[in-house]
Amino acid sequence: MKILGICGSPRDGASSFLLKRALNELEKEENFETKFISVKDKNISPCTHCNFCLESKGECSIEDDMNEIYDSLKQADGIIFASPVHFGSISAQLKAVIDRCQALIMEDLDIFKNKVGISIVVGGDRCGGQELAIQQINTFYLLNKIIPLSGGSFGANLGACLWSQDEGTDGVKNDEYGLKTLDMTINHFKEFLLEFKQ
Ligand SMILES: Cc1cc2nc3c(=O)[nH]c(=O)nc-3n(C[C@H](O)[C@H](O)[C@H](O)COP(=O)(O)O)c2cc1C
Repeated sequence: MKILGICGSPRDGASSFLLKRALNELEKEENFETKFISVKDKNISPCTHCNFCLESKGECSIEDDMNEIYDSLKQADGIIFASPVHFGSISAQLKAVIDRCQALIMEDLDIFKNKVGISIVVGGDRCGGQELAIQQINTFYLLNKIIPLSGGSFGANLGACLWSQDEGTDGVKNDEYGLKTLDMTINHFKEFLLEFKQ
């Protein structure tokens, strides 16, 4: 079982800490293999809508670090997108990764079909747009036949929502409630993968 975690923060902070924590938890499961990718220090341009990928059926005209990510995305059974909340949305860096998936989708419209996806988002404010950011990730999942999961009601309604108080990793380590949303989401993700994807 291959799990790919992509962190959309431009720095080593709360989101990467949380994503690594999630991947470490999943690694404990036999047959689970995880991979962590961060956009930090990567050069990933936004999609330019040149339509080269339509004509070439899957090749992107832009030569940058996204090429390293395409293969991992294809191989993954489970995908985790982690992002800081930037003005009520995911980071521009993660949005660039998402938009550049257009090239993969032009190779095969069902390239993501029945993969499973969850979200981890962290804001500086308690209610700073975490659910809006998850909604954006879930929309990508739905558009591409990825099954979006959360940890369920009474805690992790749409996924893992955390509050850093703008104190990075130290901030989220103190967010007991937010960490519960992460654990609930990871548990359901793990259960689902074991039951339906083995
Ligand atoms: C450009 C920018 C916009 C931000 N907008 C929001 C926001 O809308 N809501 C919020 O709660 N926090 C916002 N923040 C704060 C970050 O989400 C917060 O500090 C987060 O923990 C950073 O995660 P990281 O340490 O993984 O980068 C913003 C930060 C930046 C740099």
